[in-house]
Amino acid sequence: MKKDNWDFNFLENSNNDKNKERSKFIRDNFPQNSVGIEIGVNRGRNSERLYNELSPKKLYLVDNWDISYYEINMELMSELEIETMSNNINTVKLFVEDLWKDNDDVIIKVSDSISASTDFDDNYFDFIYIDAGHTYNRIYDDLTYWYPKLKTGGVLGGHDYNHMTVKKAISDFLTSNKIPMKVKHCITSVALDSDGCSDWVLINK
Ligand SMILES: C[S@@+](CC[C@H](N)C(=O)[O-])C[C@H]1O[C@@H](n2cnc3c(N)ncnc32)[C@H](O)[C@@H]1O
Repeated sequence: MKKDNWDFNFLENSNNDKNKERSKFIRDNFPQNSVGIEIGVNRGRNSERLYNELSPKKLYLVDNWDISYYEINMELMSELEIETMSNNINTVKLFVEDLWKDNDDVIIKVSDSISASTDFDDNYFDFIYIDAGHTYNRIYDDLTYWYPKLKTGGVLGGHDYNHMTVKKAISDFLTSNKIPMKVKHCITSVALDSDGCSDWVLINK
């Protein structure tokens, strides 16, 4: 399918990055010219942000683009709604693959987060950005499987620190594993709009 023919609203071009606050947080807290990964890509808006702001040597992108991982109740949806949504998700995947197809520094892995983590050695990444599942268990599992993949001194962060599930999973993970780090985030107001920021990173206490 030619990219020019994609006229879905949800595929609006992300080069026009209106979320300046989020871009600044990324720029200020994640390492430049390094090896990083984003877990949970969707249409690739934040992938482009990571790429543009950090000029990574290698950027891995992991997403399964699978409707069964969306945190929605499919029992409330008709077959047609499910089929339409699946098709849209697949179109999003094709869009992201097309976006990066000529860039050897960006590697897309169509995979479940936990399975993808086993493809990498421990101590491999300079930064890891987590934004896949947002339930407590999914965030906790992502932290458990991805944290060992981070180099000493690397940066672990992600999105949606305004979600109570995310906040609690991070806090419990740090406590249970006796990791002496705390969270720095960019939430500035309770009422977040699309220009708001809810990114987080772990920093030394
Ligand atoms: C909130 S979106 C990511 C948005 C993106 N980081 C951004 O800011 O532009 C979450 C994505 O995570 C993916 N996802 C959810 N659970 C996943 C899992 N267990 N493994 C891989 N991808 C997953 C979904 O398919 C979805 O595209």
